[in-house]
Amino acid sequence: TECSPPTADANVSQYACLRRTTTENHNKIFTDVLEELAENSEFNESKGPCLAFRRAASVLKSLPSAVHCLGAIQGLPCLGEHTKAVMEEILIFGRSFKVEEVQSDERYQALKLFTSVFGVGPKTAEKWYRRGLRSLKEILAEPNIQLNRMQRAGFLYYRDISKAVSKTEAKALRSIIEETAHWIAPDSILALTGGFRRGKEYGHDVDFLLTMPEMGKEEGLLLRVIDRLRDQGILLYCEHQGSTVDMSKLPSRRFEAMDHFEKCFLILRLEEGQMERDEGLQKDPGESRGWRAVRVDLVAPPVDRYAFALLGWTGSRQFERDLRRFARKERGMCLDNHALYDKTKKLFLPATSEEDIFAHLGLEYVEPWQRNA
Ligand code: CTP
Ligand code: MN
Ligand code: MN
Ligand code: MN
Repeated sequence: TECSPPTADANVSQYACLRRTTTENHNKIFTDVLEELAENSEFNESKGPCLAFRRAASVLKSLPSAVHCLGAIQGLPCLGEHTKAVMEEILIFGRSFKVEEVQSDERYQALKLFTSVFGVGPKTAEKWYRRGLRSLKEILAEPNIQLNRMQRAGFLYYRDISKAVSKTEAKALRSIIEETAHWIAPDSILALTGGFRRGKEYGHDVDFLLTMPEMGKEEGLLLRVIDRLRDQGILLYCEHQGSTVDMSKLPSRRFEAMDHFEKCFLILRLEEGQMERDEGLQKDPGESRGWRAVRVDLVAPPVDRYAFALLGWTGSRQFERDLRRFARKERGMCLDNHALYDKTKKLFLPATSEEDIFAHLGLEYVEPWQRNA
């Protein structure tokens, strides 16, 4: 039958920062599969195919309606032959044989399981797989495996951490950390970032920025907040990284490079009573022990970098990648979590808000909830 392209006049950009992507995904049946294929490519260190699948999924997420036939995706950017073949399978058979093959692969299953542990990356997962290990139980039972501190915490709180964090839980954590920060420095500023700032209902962690209105006053604040959380008995794990910001350096070209802000990766104990007070919910005495462990990221940039840090930590990852790519390819500029540098004019472009940064890049402002690329 004839099929009219719903996206024919949409003029969809290849850059996620020129698209609006809310949390409402009309093409989840495709994007779930494509993201799984991307992850498999990542495990196989096939960077090209990985990026291609991720870009394709990102384009489909931005569409205003579901794709019902291949004709509808004609003219859309970033949809290669592999992607189209996968979409065709799904349209015809309602399933993808390619992804089912991946899902039943022993190595894929093991790597996915191992990397689901906090502190375990693809390299460690691969090492364990090569040693013949297949389950988390086997890893814990293997006497020759040395887990680092982060991985030990990852195993210890595995059940809780692999459970999605709700918006209600994120709000409760925000209150706790804000209260703690204000007790130490009444004028400190705490901002929610990451997926929850983009309006997501659930996340794998909760991300915050912490700063002071006066330059330099943020020094030492994060460590005092951590101490205070420990005193309150809610700090289950803390990995603190001091600031290594070098103002003279140009923005990093490598996207995945860690930023240099002082930060900490935490596991906090969240009392369920805390949320019942906030939400007026009834407690279910049957099934819970009254608290859960939650992953929290806390980043403390100096205030003159705040806008860049906020933009960088709000994500999504794909949105950030494309912002940087757009800056480099279309504007001759270099963007990262710390700064924006104009390579032609050879100068740094200051910003006090995200709007400033979009304006420097000659981009229309994209609201956080439209960055779910
Ligand atoms: N980020 C970063 N540097 C890191 C880790 C994260 O710049 N070392 C940025 C990424 O751009 C990412 C954002 O911070 O988009 C939030 O990271 P993360 O918590 O991993 O993802 P979310 O989008 O919040 O999704 P989730 O719900 O899974 O937490
Ligand atoms: Mn997050
Ligand atoms: Mn994540
Ligand atoms: Mn995070």
